[in-house]
Amino acid sequence: MSADQQVKDIVTPMENATIATEQKAEQIVDPWNVQGAVVDGKQMSIDYDRLIESFGTRAIDEAVLQRMETLTGRKPHVLLRRGVFFSHRELNRILDRYEQKKPFYLYTGRGPSSDSMHLGHMIPFLFCQYLQDVFDCPLVIQLTDDEKFLFKPNLKLEECIRFSRQNAKDIIACGFNPEKTFIFSNFQHVGGAFYHNVVRISRCITYSQSKSTFGFVESDNVGKSHFVSIQAAPSFSNTFPAIFGDRSDIPCLIPCAIDQDPYFRLTRDVAHKLKYPKPALIHAKFFPALQGPGTKMSASVDSSAIFMTDTQAQIKNKINRHAFSGGGATMELHKEHGGKPEEDIPFQYLSFFLDDDEEIARIEKEYRAGTLSTGDLKKRCIEVLQKFVGDFQARKAAVTDAVLDHFMTPRSLGVDLSAK
Ligand code: TRP
Repeated sequence: MSADQQVKDIVTPMENATIATEQKAEQIVDPWNVQGAVVDGKQMSIDYDRLIESFGTRAIDEAVLQRMETLTGRKPHVLLRRGVFFSHRELNRILDRYEQKKPFYLYTGRGPSSDSMHLGHMIPFLFCQYLQDVFDCPLVIQLTDDEKFLFKPNLKLEECIRFSRQNAKDIIACGFNPEKTFIFSNFQHVGGAFYHNVVRISRCITYSQSKSTFGFVESDNVGKSHFVSIQAAPSFSNTFPAIFGDRSDIPCLIPCAIDQDPYFRLTRDVAHKLKYPKPALIHAKFFPALQGPGTKMSASVDSSAIFMTDTQAQIKNKINRHAFSGGGATMELHKEHGGKPEEDIPFQYLSFFLDDDEEIARIEKEYRAGTLSTGDLKKRCIEVLQKFVGDFQARKAAVTDAVLDHFMTPRSLGVDLSAK
């Protein structure tokens, strides 16, 4: 009898069921879990085509990239060219407005659950910074300190507030336009017109809709099922009177990781009921953990992540020691059979951060052929990440409390409110 069978013989039926699902599990993607399917005990990558299908979104295809390029006169951002932002809902409606010179804005957010942001957290913000730059439009950024308090029983309320301010500095260091960006903490800012929209929204969403969209159970606290109303509210322009006056007809585009889509599916249903424009969305893939492409980088697992506070030496160590390699098991095997870039974490990180299309194509080809070694690939990845994190740290050093207070003050962002 094999060791495996022996184990199976002594487990209870319930445990047995768990083992069975562990051997062959479907992929899970919701705001709290990201896990690729498990087939024959092997962790698979996330299947993004299947997500497009099951969520009912559209793929970002060549035509969208072409249109972006024609409209903005700029080469699409590296995260678009490499397919990191891979899916959307009604992006074309926003591009139409840009073409017609009608106002729109960007909305994104962050749940501040710790002091330290990592590379994966930067992705939506880097992309937003590019969008703000090419569209020259206002951007609102929601810090959901209330969400983290409700969803993470170990966090104290005061901690969530502190994380908000800390994280806001990291976000500002991505290079947003200080005249066109409003960052707010829910604890600080929800009230007045914002709260009016929160309750308008919550009256449109039933308990059973929230429960089934997010998978809540009876023992979950009631705040969780209501929280969607608070994340939905910034999708509507009259939530921000300082920016948009009483205009409720200015639509937004929401760049986010695909796991946030359930919030905005509900928001889009509600928009219809409240006669507000539906938010458009553009979705990113997850930034894989150092351990491999089947899950996302997590701030709570130190060895899975490269933090924005890591030193140059730490970055080098983490890539060399922890980054999952798609290379051959030995140098000889690698030379003979080549490597698998699609499974290789240093290659994937390079594809997110290395702007040069020719170089990345060359690296991919040579790695697959086995003429580029794992060591040399890692070396290039380390250089690129060290530069990115180093530049970020220099920008962050310039973000003083006064700068932070400016970004977090409700104010006009210069929108022409007479433009229809
Ligand atoms: N819920 C998100 C998180 O936990 C934070 C968030 C709020 C957000 N509003 C958003 C993310 C809009 C993307 C877009 O990180």
